[in-house]
Amino acid sequence: MTGSDHRHILGCRVLIVIGGGAAAYKSLDLIRRLRERGAAVRVVLTKAAQEFITPLLAGAIAGGHAYADLFDARTEFDVGHIRLARDTDIVVAAPATADLMARMAGGHADDLAATVLLATQAPVLIAPAMNPHMWINATTRRNLAQLVADGVAVVGPNEGEMAEAGEAGLGRVAEPLEIVAAVERILAGREKLPGGDPLAGRRVLVTAGPTHEPIDPVRYIANRSSGKQGYAIAAAARAAGADVILISGPVELDDPPGMSVTHVESAREMLHAVETALPADIAIFAAAVADWRVAHEGEQKLKKTAAGMPPLQLVENPDILATISKLQKLRPALVIGFAAETENLIENAKAKLARKGCDWIVANDVSPASGVMGGDRNTVHLLTRDGNGVHVDIKIESWPVMTKEEVAATLVARIASQAENRS
Ligand SMILES: Cc1cc2nc3c(=O)[nH]c(=O)nc-3n(C[C@H](O)[C@H](O)[C@H](O)COP(=O)(O)O)c2cc1C
Repeated sequence: MTGSDHRHILGCRVLIVIGGGAAAYKSLDLIRRLRERGAAVRVVLTKAAQEFITPLLAGAIAGGHAYADLFDARTEFDVGHIRLARDTDIVVAAPATADLMARMAGGHADDLAATVLLATQAPVLIAPAMNPHMWINATTRRNLAQLVADGVAVVGPNEGEMAEAGEAGLGRVAEPLEIVAAVERILAGREKLPGGDPLAGRRVLVTAGPTHEPIDPVRYIANRSSGKQGYAIAAAARAAGADVILISGPVELDDPPGMSVTHVESAREMLHAVETALPADIAIFAAAVADWRVAHEGEQKLKKTAAGMPPLQLVENPDILATISKLQKLRPALVIGFAAETENLIENAKAKLARKGCDWIVANDVSPASGVMGGDRNTVHLLTRDGNGVHVDIKIESWPVMTKEEVAATLVARIASQAENRS
C-alpha cells in the first residue's frame, strides 16, 4: 500500500466488529493502527470472537469498553445498540467470517454485531477471512455479491498460508495496514460518485497488473505492467454504478474504493480468482498475464554451480481470456481482452480477437517508444466484432492519445451504450 493520507482518519469514529475467526487477533493491531492515526475506536465482538480474544483485551487496546451482548443491560444503559450503529463514521467488520457475511447478506439482527451492521447508516467495510474452500463456496460467493450490491466495501482477502497447517489459498484476512488504507479511502471519498449510474446492477470483473511467476522462493519472472489502466477501468466502472470485482496482480497502487479487490501473484492464481468471481455480466481482462512459467519451481533458492546456469524450462500458462471467452456456462455477456503489442498492432489484435473468442479487443502499442508501459497515457484501438461463425465483421476504432483515466471512461461509456442496447 502506498500514499496513505491520515488526515481523513484523524478525529473519525470507527466501529470495529470482530468476527469469530482465527484472524481475530489481527484486529487488535488494526485498533492500535487506527488509534495511532487519531481515530476514536469502539469495538463489538461476536460470541465466537470471544473464543479467540477477550473483550477485556480488545477494550483495553481500544481505550474503552468492548461491547459483546445485545441484551446486556449495562451496554444498553451505556450507549445502546442503536447509538453504537449511529455514532460512527464507518463500521469495519474484521475479520468478517463466512457466517457474519451470511448474516449480513440475509439482514439478520440476531446478536449485537449483526444488529449494528444492519442499523448503521455509515459506510460498511468488511475484511473477509476464512478457509479457501469456504471462500469459494457458491453460498459465500452469493453472499459477497449481495453485500457488494448493497454497497458494502470489501478489502481482501489475500492469497497465502492459512492458520490451519497445510492450508493455503485465497482467504487470508487483509493486513491491518491494508484495512487502514481502505478506511482512509472510504472516508476520503464519501462524496457521491459522479457521472450517473448507467451500469447500476451490472457485475463487472476487471483484471489488472502483471503476474509474477516464481522461479524459486526469491526470484520470479515479471513484466512492466503497472496496473494503472486496469485500475482506472475498475474505478470508471464503479463510478458508472457497477458492482466491480477487481483482480489484481502485484502493483504499487492503492485499492480503489467501493469494490471488491483480490490480490494475486501468478497467472494460475489469477485464473482461479477470476473463475471463483463468476458470474459477471461484463469481464475486462486488462492484466498483462505472463504467457509462460517455470516448469519446476525451485523449493530452495537456486545456487550457482560449477556446471553453470541452471536450465530454466518454461511451460505455457493457462490463457485466462480464452478460457473465460469459451465457457459454455457462466460466460459473461461481454468479454473484453487487451492486446499489448510492440509491432503489427492491428493485425495481431485482429488475430487475437478471432483466436480467443472474446467480443472486443482493446489494442495498445506498448513498444518502448510509446511510453505506455508504466506511463500515464495510452493510444488504443478498439476492435469489436459483430456476428458469429463465418460472417464476422470486425470494426476498428482508433482513439486519440488519452490519459489512462480517459481511456477508461471512454471504454466504460462504450460498454454502457452496448449494455443499454442489449437490455
Ligand atoms: C479455530 C477456529 C477457527 C475459525 N476460523 C474461522 C475463519 O477464519 N473464518 C470463518 O469464517 N470462520 C471461522 N471459524 C468458524 C466460526 O468461528 C463460526 O462459523 C462462528 O459461528 C462464527 O461466528 P460469528 O460470525 O458470529 O463470529 C473458525 C472456527 C474455529 C473453531
